[in-house]
Amino acid sequence: PLVATGDLVTRAVARHGAVAAFNVITLEHIEAVVAAAETAGTPVILQVSENAVKFHGWRLAPLAAAAVQSAEPSTVPVALHLDHVKTGELLREAADRGFSSVMFDAAHLPYAENVAATREATAWAHSAGLWLEAELGEVGGKDGRGPLPAHAPGARTEPGEARRFVEETGVDALAVAIGSSHAMTSRDARLDHELLAALRGALDVPLVLHGSSGVPDDELRRAVRGGIAKVNIGTALSIAMTAAVRAHLAGDERTVDPRSYLAAGRGAIIETAGRLLPTIAAATAA
Ligand code: G3H
Ligand code: ZN
Repeated sequence: PLVATGDLVTRAVARHGAVAAFNVITLEHIEAVVAAAETAGTPVILQVSENAVKFHGWRLAPLAAAAVQSAEPSTVPVALHLDHVKTGELLREAADRGFSSVMFDAAHLPYAENVAATREATAWAHSAGLWLEAELGEVGGKDGRGPLPAHAPGARTEPGEARRFVEETGVDALAVAIGSSHAMTSRDARLDHELLAALRGALDVPLVLHGSSGVPDDELRRAVRGGIAKVNIGTALSIAMTAAVRAHLAGDERTVDPRSYLAAGRGAIIETAGRLLPTIAAATAA
């Protein structure tokens, strides 16, 4: 069934686990992620980024309809989340399209401006019944320029500032910069677990890990044990899908039916999401 993101995250926190949030771009992504979650027997979040909406001509409705209609008959709980939203128009469309949560991204702004924009977005989201996630400190790699150096300004979330940010904005969850970076094609990110512990101790909202594709399994497990409650994954699915499509096309140069290579791509997403889901969901803490 279609459920609310906030409920999935709350339940994950209660059992010291986390919920996986996969970025979906095409119909095949949606079908594959739901199929993988059903096989794994775990809840899942389908998240649509502002970039994905832009790719579809700034139309949220078609992808949202596909997501809602895939979630409803699912044998596991599925929630819909709008990811990395920067534009107010898109934010305000979320509730009408079946989304129960949004990530409002003003992390690129100086602190005071991030607070002001996030506070306004949160007030609106709450009035519409939406759960809102924001970001403080910058998880790098959003602009394709690779990870921020560890000591670059904003590359790490400072616990004291994070505490103030949560108090001043009223957000429901916080994306923190602890060493991961977006769009990594290698899985060799090392997380700052001491910083995660300090953030966990300073804050009483669920913490979200972005750029999780570059984080190896053992680091992911440790992060979940350390208090990460939502794990965002996009690039890992892109890598798997693209490799499968490429191999399929290379294997048969006469292929013209998109269904043949899209099926290969969809199968690769099922496999990759299926491998990650138990790692992320596991209640690994005592
Ligand atoms: O919000 C989306 C995630 O942070 C995905 O990052 O594509 O590097 O896995 P990723
Ligand atoms: Zn992200």
